[in-house]
Amino acid sequence: MVKLNEHYLELKQSYLFAEIGRRVAAYAAEHPDAKIIRLGIGDVTRPLTPAVVEAMSKAVAEMGQAETFRGYGPEQGYDFLRNAIVDYYARNGVTIAADEVFVSDGAKSDTGNITDLFDPENKVLIPDPVYPVYVDTNTMNGRNIIYMDANAENNFLPMPDPDVDADIIYLCSPNNPTGATYNREQLKAWVDYANSKGAIILFDSAYEAFISDPELPRSIFAIEGARECAIEFCSLSKTAGFTGTRCGYTIVPTELERTSTTGVRQSVKAMWNRRQTTKFNGVSYIVQRGAAAAFSEQGMKEAQENIAYYKENARIIAEVFEKKSVRYFGGINSPYIWFECPKGMDAWTFFDYLLKEVNVVGTPGEGFGTNGTHFFRLTAFGTKEATIEAMKRIESIL
Ligand code: MLT
Repeated sequence: MVKLNEHYLELKQSYLFAEIGRRVAAYAAEHPDAKIIRLGIGDVTRPLTPAVVEAMSKAVAEMGQAETFRGYGPEQGYDFLRNAIVDYYARNGVTIAADEVFVSDGAKSDTGNITDLFDPENKVLIPDPVYPVYVDTNTMNGRNIIYMDANAENNFLPMPDPDVDADIIYLCSPNNPTGATYNREQLKAWVDYANSKGAIILFDSAYEAFISDPELPRSIFAIEGARECAIEFCSLSKTAGFTGTRCGYTIVPTELERTSTTGVRQSVKAMWNRRQTTKFNGVSYIVQRGAAAAFSEQGMKEAQENIAYYKENARIIAEVFEKKSVRYFGGINSPYIWFECPKGMDAWTFFDYLLKEVNVVGTPGEGFGTNGTHFFRLTAFGTKEATIEAMKRIESIL
């Protein structure tokens, strides 16, 4: 008889955002007149920008003509997009090569799929709280997870402990959910730690475009030594409104190699290439054309206008917490505001309270780890009108 992967039994019953969706749907069914405002999942509301729409429309037209029609594309992404990503990094002062860029349907898939490359015996170091995909995917593989505390005392930026031996390290900066962002010295400490242990850092930079402080690194590859120990995951979901369009990319540097137990030198880039060519058929041509346009100077200018819009929402949220003396983090170089639940409530209690009392949906901090038990996350990705209305309602119960 087949034996199923019993590690699934160790997972929470449903994925965080599925659970939120379930609770909100149940409440909405019971209260059809409730005007629910959703600031839970970080889903964008601004439309694709003109540069992206134009490029995609052109690509659709090309697909409708025999002379310009395209079938399967390269699994790693078309050169025009890989080169556009290289240029984008160069404009931010970071050098990468086109063959180190692997285009995909998003950072969520890649941060989960990358686990294929690692032995189940590896020890995985994961901040608590953090994006739940890292914990869930390693739990599915039965890996041993070591948690590192991110809390108000360390500004939600845990630093390496030389006494802890880790093989795989997840870092997310700007952080989801706390908005905390590592500076250069802090990231350098992580790179040095990883290199001293022979570990690999899986660096999620999905929110890099929200960094406005020029001193803060937007890529781990801005740090010396990172090419020997890091893989970077990024996405256009939050940068250019691609949550529904789907396009992300992973950067695996050529220098990243390890020696097998039998003495064979293994290139991580070659392994990822092997994995992707076997299990993935690439992102659609139309989407890649849109993505390349998003990375152009004009595309990024337009994307930054939307990011400024979301940052204004973050300011509106923070303003209420300032006024009401609620302790909060993030919202500056990040679209998330992470705050302490009022009246000593735990996060799921506050979630239900907020939904029932004022019909506002947020994300309970506990869904990101035990250190989030008394914290709550609001996203700045709503419309400005919805954000103002939600904060008016929240202010009334603080
Ligand atoms: C979030 O709300 O944490 C994100 O939107 C989830 C994701 O990017 O998959």
